[in-house]
Amino acid sequence: VRLQSYVWPDQTLRLQRLRGALELAAANPPHVERADAIDFVERQLAARRPDAAFVLFHSIMWQYLPAATRSRLEQILQQAGQSARADAPIAWLRMEPDDSGAPHAMLALTLWPGGQTRELAHCDYHGRWIEWIDLVTS
Ligand SMILES: C[S@@+](CC[C@H](N)C(=O)[O-])C[C@H]1O[C@@H](n2cnc3c(N)ncnc32)[C@H](O)[C@@H]1O
Repeated sequence: VRLQSYVWPDQTLRLQRLRGALELAAANPPHVERADAIDFVERQLAARRPDAAFVLFHSIMWQYLPAATRSRLEQILQQAGQSARADAPIAWLRMEPDDSGAPHAMLALTLWPGGQTRELAHCDYHGRWIEWIDLVTS
């Protein structure tokens, strides 16, 4: 109820989506852990399975991290990426504002081995639409 109270009453579609998400979460309760991003990522990378893909996903949180934390996370991923293999890749998937100031988020993927970044899609911040692109950026 508290979460729903944060949605403006005239935003009925947003409320509908939130209620749908709450129903899904109630049916399949996710494991939620309170942790700092650096500790969490380091721990999860250290415990990753040697025979499976490791995927780090985040949405709309990067901007809240101090610059030093963002750099450290990139460094941690780069380092871990050196030991990634094609049959046990490391994927960094994120939906975050891009640097262009565009009014939508960017879904981007960096994949190791190789560390290549691809911009996959432009997306609405609140999940209303997604527009797939296919562009190799680095
Ligand atoms: C705008 S919310 C986004 C929530 C959700 N990911 C989404 O897309 O709807 C920003 C999130 O960043 C998280 N956050 C901010 N600083 C963090 C940090 N140092 N470590 C981990 N999470 C952090 C907050 O806890 C909050 O959940």
